[in-house]
Amino acid sequence: MKNVSGNSILVFLLWLCTGCTSVNQETTTQAQQGVIASRGMVVSAHPEASKIGLAILQKGGNAYDAAVATEFALAVAYPRAGNIGGGGFLVYRLSTGQTGTLDYREKAPNAASRDMYLDAQGNLQAGLSTLGHLGVGVPGTVDGMVTMHQKLGKLPWADVVQPAIDLAARGVILTEREARGLNAAQQEFQQANKHTSHLINTTGWQAGDTLRLNDLARTLTRIRDKGRAGFYEGETADLIVREMKKGKGLMTHQDLKEYKSVWREPIKGNYKEYTIISMPPPSSGGIALVQLLQLIEPYDVKGWGWQAPNTVHVIVEAERRVYADRAAHLGDPDFYKVPMKGLLSSSYLKQRMAAFAMDRATPSAQVKAGEPQKESDQTTHYSIVDQWGNAASVTTTLNGNYGSKVVVEGAGFLLNNEMDDFSAKPGVPNMFGLVGGEANAIAPGKRMLSSMTPTIVEKDGQLFLVVGTPGGSTIITSVFQTIVNVLEHGMGMQEAVAAPRFHHQWLPDRIDHEPKALSTQTREILKSLGHQLQERAPYGAVEGILRLPNGKLEGGADSRGDDTALGY
Ligand code: GLY
Repeated sequence: MKNVSGNSILVFLLWLCTGCTSVNQETTTQAQQGVIASRGMVVSAHPEASKIGLAILQKGGNAYDAAVATEFALAVAYPRAGNIGGGGFLVYRLSTGQTGTLDYREKAPNAASRDMYLDAQGNLQAGLSTLGHLGVGVPGTVDGMVTMHQKLGKLPWADVVQPAIDLAARGVILTEREARGLNAAQQEFQQANKHTSHLINTTGWQAGDTLRLNDLARTLTRIRDKGRAGFYEGETADLIVREMKKGKGLMTHQDLKEYKSVWREPIKGNYKEYTIISMPPPSSGGIALVQLLQLIEPYDVKGWGWQAPNTVHVIVEAERRVYADRAAHLGDPDFYKVPMKGLLSSSYLKQRMAAFAMDRATPSAQVKAGEPQKESDQTTHYSIVDQWGNAASVTTTLNGNYGSKVVVEGAGFLLNNEMDDFSAKPGVPNMFGLVGGEANAIAPGKRMLSSMTPTIVEKDGQLFLVVGTPGGSTIITSVFQTIVNVLEHGMGMQEAVAAPRFHHQWLPDRIDHEPKALSTQTREILKSLGHQLQERAPYGAVEGILRLPNGKLEGGADSRGDDTALGY
């Protein structure tokens, strides 16, 4: 699909709108999507968070100052995934071209053990890793923000934390979607908490209601004043440990004190004239994304066209093989020797498609993980580019919607249920249907495998695209298909993030597709090749920034949510 003229008109109108009026800091609460700006751009899942990030850019902050402010604002305004009780990943590219990543993923508490979710017969006990205190990993977000800011930030720490404190003290006006999300989780909030919390509303939340966040405002104030110690020590740490004890949680003061985020070398790979810069393990995202792009590179995806039967078939067969590798070979590199070079070597990838046939699906039962040479639903993403061309691509998570549903009493924030991202029992699927084995088994202090894929793409050595999304196991394929939409199908950023998607993850052996992702004819042809298909509700929330040929930035905010692009 070439850039459709209707879309170009839409982008032009939005450009007129955002280019002619300065963003009103007091009143911008509506989602804005498909925005073009000259200097800087913030795209996130919530209008208040994008507004706060943009204000930091306009004040002279750089992309990393804006990232800290946006992350804390999401913790206030977007409780389903924005967090200080979870973790995430940053991929950055400085205007000088220097790149890097920061891993602030949660860790298993020291008292965690391999079979902690199994009963005496060795069966997985449903719900233990997803609802309540036992599913909580040691949070990394606050350490991540402090660490990012110390190395890359420009404005004073207090200046980038303060806007989230002000927002929490003011309260957040609920959107229709957030009210629905909170209502859907009410029963689980009651189950997971012994106290009543600011998220519980027995008569039901409505759009326009104000969420009051005074405890969170006080916690953020301690973080503003004491940095890392405002969370991992003192009053906040005491409140977390007290909360853990109420529900048989494992986290201790020692776990909190020991938490450290880690700078890691990015995964880099080429696709035609583009360089992909993405997250290494403990995320599977970067390796899987580069594998996917290189597996489809020899095929004429552009000539076949967007969502044409051949295009979908090749993409699905690549996805099937890559997710089989993910299950067997990927885990925390500090605990398991991930064969990174082997998984990305061109001879290995060539051999992975050896049994591929254009005229039939390969059943997943016949696709095992390869043998690379050994050298060894809810999350949120924001993309930021500043006036100097520095870029931040950040995906952050509590894992499930509202994480473990446990609110730390007196501290006003939700804790993650990231322990479910471990493989609790080999071959048994987690909440995203993903299976795994030894590489991702639970161990004390280990980071659970992630699918988060914050990514930056360079074209001819210059910043080109900043992109990422939530969506559990679908994160990798959503980022992959959005990149292919831009690189091969000539779409602009807004069109590429809004385009309907499909997903295959090896097991279950099935193509899940959004409504309207595949035409009736494409579906019939795919079935005749032997593919199973299943329609599912829309998923993901891709937030992207594309540098246009004229140097301007196009912000694409996913129209599946309240996601908002704001630029200046
Ligand atoms: N919790 C989702 C992920 O990290 O993949």
